[in-house]
Amino acid sequence: MAEAPRADLLVLFGGTGDLARRMLLPSLYYLDADGFLPEGFRIVATARAELSRETFLDRVRRDLEARPEGLEAAVWTRFGSRLDYVSADATTAQGLASLGPHLDGAQRPIFYLALSPSLYGRVCVALAAAGFATDDSRIVLEKPIGRDLETSRAINVAVGAVFDEERIFRIDHYLGKETVQNLIALRFANTLFEPLWNNLTIDHVQLTVAETEGVGDRWPYYDEYGALRDMLQNHMLQLLCLVAMEPPSDMEPDSVRNEKVKVLRSLRPYTRAEAASSSVRGQYAAGVAAGASAQAYEAERGQASDTETFVALRVDIDNWRWAGVPFFLRTGKRLPERRTQIAIQFKGVPHSIFDGPAREDLVANRLVIDLQPDEDIELLLMNKAPGITAGGMRLQSLPLSLSLLRTYEGPGARRRIAYERLLLDAICGNSTLFVRRDEVEAAWRWIDGVADAWREAGMAPKPYAAGSWGPAGAFALIERSGRAWYD
Ligand code: BG6
Repeated sequence: MAEAPRADLLVLFGGTGDLARRMLLPSLYYLDADGFLPEGFRIVATARAELSRETFLDRVRRDLEARPEGLEAAVWTRFGSRLDYVSADATTAQGLASLGPHLDGAQRPIFYLALSPSLYGRVCVALAAAGFATDDSRIVLEKPIGRDLETSRAINVAVGAVFDEERIFRIDHYLGKETVQNLIALRFANTLFEPLWNNLTIDHVQLTVAETEGVGDRWPYYDEYGALRDMLQNHMLQLLCLVAMEPPSDMEPDSVRNEKVKVLRSLRPYTRAEAASSSVRGQYAAGVAAGASAQAYEAERGQASDTETFVALRVDIDNWRWAGVPFFLRTGKRLPERRTQIAIQFKGVPHSIFDGPAREDLVANRLVIDLQPDEDIELLLMNKAPGITAGGMRLQSLPLSLSLLRTYEGPGARRRIAYERLLLDAICGNSTLFVRRDEVEAAWRWIDGVADAWREAGMAPKPYAAGSWGPAGAFALIERSGRAWYD
């Protein structure tokens, strides 16, 4: 891959917000600690709040000190000297004037919009009018890019009027997660799996993104989106694409993204008739989650709502490789445990040579990729159970484990924040792990079809007790096809 020139300045809009404080500034600090920030690289955080540089730096330092890794004095001295704060209104050229002196001398600035997507268009216009959106600048956008196809197009058009597509970096932080990238390595750096990765050998695929937390005070955003738009449209469809895509010819951004788009375009559209049999919407009621009593979503929201906090779907991919292999996706808030997992269920052996008890022991192989809370990859294989028994041999299923946990043990080892990888890639101008415009729009087109089918079928979310695995319908959804969730 031809190396793009590295950025020399990052302007962080929304610099006092939650994302900046919890994820972005710590990620930049760790990149600095590991020597990844280019010499002379500067970071200018900006927001409307009038804060002095000292007050801002003090906040950042305290946030870093509160993290389990603590703060290293020498790294902080270097990082602090790169960091500045300026109060600005990003929506007008006039409001951006205070940034001017900080951009002086910067050849390749990155503008990171950790802001409400409703502002993206206006901020881009203001950046252009202020003369900051030069040909060598880049822009990073957080999800959600719109609430449906129409609104996402409007954002893409507004941003695209100022920045060319190759200078737009749309973040899906799941693509920065270690195990998600490992999926690419697992599939394409081994000869073992690819010949088996199709409908001849795979029975079905399960994707689960379960969270124990509720929506809490994020409801003003969440109530407008719900689980379908907040998690399915982006993170889960991205995971699905990486599992289902054809091998790209190389790791060039467009090679990978072309393959992902083909998957999105092959998703079978939902119809009103299928809505009830192939999908489930749920909303958490009061219950017990993570050992504590939890309020209902509507109590947090303060009024009745028909937003789903849980969704389970059967997804079919209409192409040669995946014909007849259902993908079952589910995600929800206030579920019994935090778990992000991809399970590839292989078919059983075509003929069993075993009889007696061993015949009963025989189960099909499964590849389980755990992303959270612990990262691990396990291949469940059949073995002979040790020892002798009167009725002949017994079999057992045992995991062949990559034990990725060990990678994080030992001095200096730590789990990286997904944003570290993505920020570094944005700085280096590598957009392989960022989402291209046609991908976002293809994902929305399919999601809009699901939302339309729900509306036409009058499907309201079914209540489920906080701390349970969602409404009963979620079990029926998969059991109808003779399979079950791996709980
Ligand atoms: C965000 C969603 O994109 O991802 C949140 O808006 C969700 O609702 C979060 O909680 C999950 O991310 P992670 O990395 O904690 O799995």
